[in-house]
Amino acid sequence: MSSPRPSAVIVLAAGEGTRMRSATPKVLHEIAGRSLLGHVVEAVETLVPEHLVVVVGHGRDLVVEHLAAIAPRALAVDQHQQHGTGHAMRVALEGLLAAGIDLHVSLPLIVVAGDTPLLTGETLQRLLQTHIDEGASSTVLTAVLENPVGYGRVLRDPISGHVTGIVEHKDADPAQRAVREINSGVYAFDVTALRDALGQLTKDNSQGEEYLTDVLSLHVRAGLPVAAVAAADAEEILGVNDRAQLAHARSLVRDRINLGWLRSGVTIVDPATTWIDSLVVLERDCVIERNTGLHGLTTVATGAIIGPDTSLTDVVVSEGASVIRTQGSGAEIGPGATVGPFTYIRPGTRLAAKAKLGAYVEAKNAVVGAGSKVPHLSYVGDVEIGEGSNIGAATVIVNYDGIAKHRTVIGDHVRIGSDSMLVAPVTIGDGAYTAAGSVITDDVPPGAMAVARARQRNVEGWVERRREGSAAAKAAKAARVSSAPGAPSPATSSPPTSGSAPADPGQTPHEEPSQ
Ligand code: UD1
Ligand code: CA
Repeated sequence: MSSPRPSAVIVLAAGEGTRMRSATPKVLHEIAGRSLLGHVVEAVETLVPEHLVVVVGHGRDLVVEHLAAIAPRALAVDQHQQHGTGHAMRVALEGLLAAGIDLHVSLPLIVVAGDTPLLTGETLQRLLQTHIDEGASSTVLTAVLENPVGYGRVLRDPISGHVTGIVEHKDADPAQRAVREINSGVYAFDVTALRDALGQLTKDNSQGEEYLTDVLSLHVRAGLPVAAVAAADAEEILGVNDRAQLAHARSLVRDRINLGWLRSGVTIVDPATTWIDSLVVLERDCVIERNTGLHGLTTVATGAIIGPDTSLTDVVVSEGASVIRTQGSGAEIGPGATVGPFTYIRPGTRLAAKAKLGAYVEAKNAVVGAGSKVPHLSYVGDVEIGEGSNIGAATVIVNYDGIAKHRTVIGDHVRIGSDSMLVAPVTIGDGAYTAAGSVITDDVPPGAMAVARARQRNVEGWVERRREGSAAAKAAKAARVSSAPGAPSPATSSPPTSGSAPADPGQTPHEEPSQ
């Protein structure tokens, strides 16, 4: 690319952001999984500036720590007291000097605010190019807004149309307030001309601050060329000063991201309720149903269906899988696997091909082998399940003894009976069965049937004796009388007993793969 490179980009991010009413510094508030500052850094880095400077102040420790994570090369410069955007720029230039960095004065310098998350690299590129083409000392990015309240207004000579300066909303007279062309707070400057003007700023305004915007009128008065570039899309320059603007910016970023995926061949059923973070990757022909959030480093392969009502963070979904009404994080869903509805997938969960986690299942650190199923109402934690196994409804892997977590291993083609408790650490061998309602505390060898529960006994006639006159007793009596003559059934003819023959545990109903 032969586009010009700026000597530096200065990001102003020291302000308090009072109107956010937040303990979190304004520029660390997030949109689409990325901080406001992160969005700005992403856009300015496309210019490949020689130096990246961020002016920090309010919440500086948090901002500096965040910066180290997202832009390690950035130089953070402290503005201890915030005396305005002009003051912030002076501090930035002093910070560069103090760091022993000599700016290339022949290359332009770009200034952006840390609170304009919709700004794009293309617009910055255009600003830079116009600045160079017009040989300007300062160039401002402007936009025409329906409602310009709060923004600085761009003043132009009525005859030549040239920019003559910028007046802040608070300082503007009614005629100036009627101007709808506003200052975006993004500029390109000639370094030397900027330095000269910064030295002449005063605090002679309604806010008692040094305004960076005054640099333009100072340049005009000095006879230096000043230019303006209009943003192609006025939305791009939206500054986030309060939570209402944050919400508005968030919806615009959402629309931008969704549109990108729609154009690349992803079906998004209801874009208004679909929230996809910046770093998520979707393949063609996956389907995102309504009310779905895809966050962090989530990826969705072709043919997969996600949603409705699903939120996934850092989840890898393979081809043809379906994930319905699910909350998930830190997991891998294999090809053709099915999850949901009402499923909670926690970190470390990995489903192999065609595995299943069904309704009301919670999984944590669970590896589920190919074709294995946990169809209903279960907790599976710290467990490895082999291939082709079925975990009956309401099974719980009892992984925690109150002090430590323990691991469970379940082999291939195992049948765990409904309502089994598998008390870890325990190993269930290949092809083994457990009887429904068992509490399994010892390993089960391959092919064995484990029965670990009390035997059933029926106390005959109990209801008629102990619940005399109740509806149950009446029903019991009617059943006894109607079956008494002719062909008495064993149940009604035998006397009360303390026990009866146990069912073959092998006939205990199991939850076989459903549907
Ligand atoms: C500023 C512009 C205004 C423009 C608007 C665009 C000035 C005087 N006004 O107003 O013309 O329409 O942006 O959004 O520049 N900051 C510092 N140190 C300071 C003061 C501010 O780093 O001492 C940073 C803030 O953190 C913020 C940016 O500069 O990121 C802009 O400051 P802000 O107070 O939001 O300015 P606006 O009133 O929005
Ligand atoms: Ca602002």
